Amino acid sequence: MTVPIAGKGSSPVPGRLHLGDDAIDLPAVAATAGSDGLAISSLLATTGKVTVDPGFMNTAACTSDITFIDGAEGVLRYRGYPIEQLAANSTFLEVAYLLIHGELPSHHRLDEFVERVDRHMYLPEDFREILSMQPRASHPMAMLGAAIQTMACFYPESMDPLNPAAVDLATVLLMAKMPTMISYIHRRAAGYALLYPVRGEGYVRNFARMTFARPGEAADLPDALVEALDTLLILHADHEQNCSTSTVRLVGSAQANLYSSISAGVAALSGPLHGGANEAVLEMLARIRDSGRDVPTFMARVKDKQDGAKLMGFGHRVYKNYDPRAAIVKKSADRVLEALGVTDELLDIAREVEEIALADAYFIERKLYPNVDFYTGIIYRAMGFPSSMFTPLFAFGRLPGWIAQWREMMSDPTTRIGRPRQVYVGHPKRDFISWEDR
Ligand code: ACO
Repeated sequence: MTVPIAGKGSSPVPGRLHLGDDAIDLPAVAATAGSDGLAISSLLATTGKVTVDPGFMNTAACTSDITFIDGAEGVLRYRGYPIEQLAANSTFLEVAYLLIHGELPSHHRLDEFVERVDRHMYLPEDFREILSMQPRASHPMAMLGAAIQTMACFYPESMDPLNPAAVDLATVLLMAKMPTMISYIHRRAAGYALLYPVRGEGYVRNFARMTFARPGEAADLPDALVEALDTLLILHADHEQNCSTSTVRLVGSAQANLYSSISAGVAALSGPLHGGANEAVLEMLARIRDSGRDVPTFMARVKDKQDGAKLMGFGHRVYKNYDPRAAIVKKSADRVLEALGVTDELLDIAREVEEIALADAYFIERKLYPNVDFYTGIIYRAMGFPSSMFTPLFAFGRLPGWIAQWREMMSDPTTRIGRPRQVYVGHPKRDFISWEDR
């Protein structure tokens, strides 16, 4: 079970668990960075005991080569490359290739990947009709999950999870059709006709045009908007074993096809504790504005925990330092708003909130820093997205991470169907009570 990998310098120390008079050795699983693991799979067979860990606070469900996070230091790396370097130098499609295939692509490989994705962005007319038949008031995440599941009906030849060519095809089809589906979901709610992708226009620019072009008008898409959107997608592209990614892996461990697994990930992301915080940040900033812009009073309410008030966009289960993605988004917010000629009072309020929080003992002691969601909503709003589209945009960015994690899980020889144990705390055996006696 021990997986020795060079890189951290020292060998991991195996564990020894004492249970009564017995000592059980727990083999070590070596990490190249971060915490080593202790393998406990044999515990039930040797001791009759299971481990209990609600919320998986201390359980590594897999080993992974994809993403590394050091929450204490505020570090995020995809395949070893720091997020700051990728955001500054790469494109979303290149990062998607990196996550999915493990290495930065050669020029030839990237051209090939981009061309293949570009070729498949079109959605068949029947598919467009299905999307346009959904009620206008449908929640965008409900529509997105259904649309991804619908892909399984349209592309059955790409469904076999054990056929590498089929998985490659499903990968390309998902990457290609995701922007088209999301733009349609946006337009459907707005009551606009659905537009076609244009070959060679560029992946993110195509998405932006299909989303924002008004009927009969040429789309005005400043480079700054397209570049900022590309960067935001990169920042969301993977975040190791979070709730939606673990869902994708769990569903896939039953050898469900890639579409069904990703659709399940979308369902997990739709939960407000996971994908919905960027929307909540905007609501909070608007409340502060509408109540006379009294930031210090709002901060006092948060610190007193009045009515469960929280500073949305602050704090993170893993980062106990500045979220490295938040630092990039903050810089981007200034640039984008200036380029789009948008002034937003909410951005000024956000800056004031951050300044007060970073100097306040309550937030310092609890290691509460801005997370990626603190400034993203402001940028999306400046671009023209309604807040109901923020979580679908998160899903768009996270897609390559979900695909990469699913593929890693499928090709890992140690993968078994995900099946947690439980500790039963219900009634002991009892006899059925007849209808007359109840
Ligand atoms: N505002 C005020 N106080 C906070 C906040 C906050 N945003 N977050 C945590 N605290 C306080 C808690 O009240 C607690 O205080 P106490 O020690 O006096 O009881 C202490 O900090 C520790 O908080 P926990 O709840 O234990 O932290 P946890 O790691 O469980 O929660 C979470 C992390 C859920 C992200 C939390 O910080 C939060 O609710 N933040 C606001 C919502 C948010 O921005 N979510 C987006 C996360 S990023 C993402 O999902 C992409």
